[in-house]
Parts: sequence; structure tokens; C-alpha cells
Amino acid sequence: MVSPAIALAFVPLLLTLLIRYRYFFVLFYRAVLVRVWRDCVTGLSREERAYQYVLTHSTPGDPDSILDAFDVWCSKVEYISNIGPKKGKILDRLLMEQSPLTVLELGAHCGYSTVRIARALPLGARLYTIEMDQGNAAITEKIIRLAGFDDDTVELIVNPSDEVIPRLRSDYNLERLDFVFMDHWKKCYLPDLQLLEGCGLLGKGSVILADNVLFPGAPKFLRYLRKCGLYEWKIHRATLEYSTGIRDGMAELIYQGIK
Ligand SMILES: C[S@@+](CC[C@H](N)C(=O)[O-])C[C@H]1O[C@@H](n2cnc3c(N)ncnc32)[C@H](O)[C@@H]1O
Repeated sequence: MVSPAIALAFVPLLLTLLIRYRYFFVLFYRAVLVRVWRDCVTGLSREERAYQYVLTHSTPGDPDSILDAFDVWCSKVEYISNIGPKKGKILDRLLMEQSPLTVLELGAHCGYSTVRIARALPLGARLYTIEMDQGNAAITEKIIRLAGFDDDTVELIVNPSDEVIPRLRSDYNLERLDFVFMDHWKKCYLPDLQLLEGCGLLGKGSVILADNVLFPGAPKFLRYLRKCGLYEWKIHRATLEYSTGIRDGMAELIYQGIK
């Protein structure tokens, strides 16, 4: 039995930890505890719950209203790791500047960033989005169609990225990717970047935007960028999607070719 005096001695420490890491506690509460509780009560996954909300609070064929509905749901009701509106604007701006014709997205989840990318593409451009989770891919497919994009504009590929990337040339006739958005598991960033390089899918000027390089973080990926000399790159500082206190960043890379 712990004496009350010893228990009391821990109170200041606990309070300090609570204050210092309050944003992480809030995130854990919203992303894990609320989710588990709602999964049990509704019998739906959080992606299906988000989809139900978007379906009933957006206008079919209007990508803006779909993104708005997602943003309301994720900021007010239930956390989902969409890129969100703030970092989304950085993505929008780069797409507007680059006008890429061939775009690859790694990690679609519910299709939020997929819609964000597709609505910014110039006429005739094509987005290939890779999602390995069948359930998430099913939601993404419905969101893409709800937004009004057809197969000619967005192609969803349901498989892990390390299986798909080596087949992009042979199975999808891709020669060069103008823009790559990386937002899948952070441990895959470096191997997949090296796969893209090895398969010759990057050309001089290809842009890669990688989300969450500071939180949860992709240290090996950043270390490689510092060392390899293949990219001009910088980090756009931001906060984690749908939160204010957790610092995050997106890495923007421009491929310079083999030196
Ligand atoms: C952070 S979410 C993507 C969020 C999405 N980009 C957005 O902003 O709306 C990450 C997604 O990547 C998928 N994923 C993780 N690793 C993957 C891999 N190696 N290949 C394909 N999909 C992957 C997960 O199943 C998950 O749905």
C-alpha cells in the first residue's frame, strides 16, 4: 500500500506532465479513446462514420463541399488524420504552381487529400492514388465518385506501395511522375522514395511533398535528404492536422537528377 505522503509527492510531477503534454493527451483522447468507444456504440469504423456525415452534409459533384464537411467532422466530432485545411493549402498552392500532369499519392485513407489533389489538377492530368487498406480504399472510392471524378482523372490502386511502385511502368504505362504526395506510414517514406528513384520515375524538376515529417516524424527520410544531394528541399512548418499545439511540417523536395 502506497502511503498518502508518497502519493502526494507525485502530484506536482503528474501536473507538470499533464500541462507539458496536454496536446498529446487531447490527441490520444480524441484519436484513440473516443474512437474505441464510438466503434463499440455504432458498430461502424470511424472512416464509415466520417463518410456517413460527409454524404449527408455535402453536395454531390462539389469537391469543396466534401472537403468542408470532412473538416467540420474531423475538427468538431472525431479526429481523422486527413491532411486538413491548413496543410492542405500548401498542397493546393504547390499543385497550382506546378500544374502536374501525372501525380502519385501514397496513402489515401478516406480520400480527403485525393479530392484535394484532383480538384487542383489541370485538364488532362491524372492522379494515381495507392491505398493498401481495403476498408479505407472502399471509402476513398465512394468519396472520389461523390466528388464527381471519373476513372480517367483518378485511379485508385489497392495494394501496398512497395508492390505497386515497381509495376507503375509496366502496368500503368507511367514514365515520369511530376508530383508525388507522400502521406502513408512514415517508415515507408525513405524506402518508397528510393524505389521511385530506382525505377526511374522521377525526372529533373519532379516535386515530392511529404507530410508529417516532424510529427510523428520521418527522421531517416530527413537524414537521407541531408546526405544524398539529389534534391533541393525545404520544410514548410505547420501544426498537426485539426490541432493547434503539436508542431509538424511538410517536406517539399525537387528532384535534381543524378549528380
Ligand atoms: C495518414 S493516412 C492518409 C491521409 C490522406 N492522405 C489524407 O490526407 O486525406 C495514411 C493512409 O496510408 C495507408 N498506408 C500506409 N502505408 C501504406 C503503404 N505502404 N501503401 C499503401 N497505403 C499505405 C494507410 O492504410 C492509411 O489509410
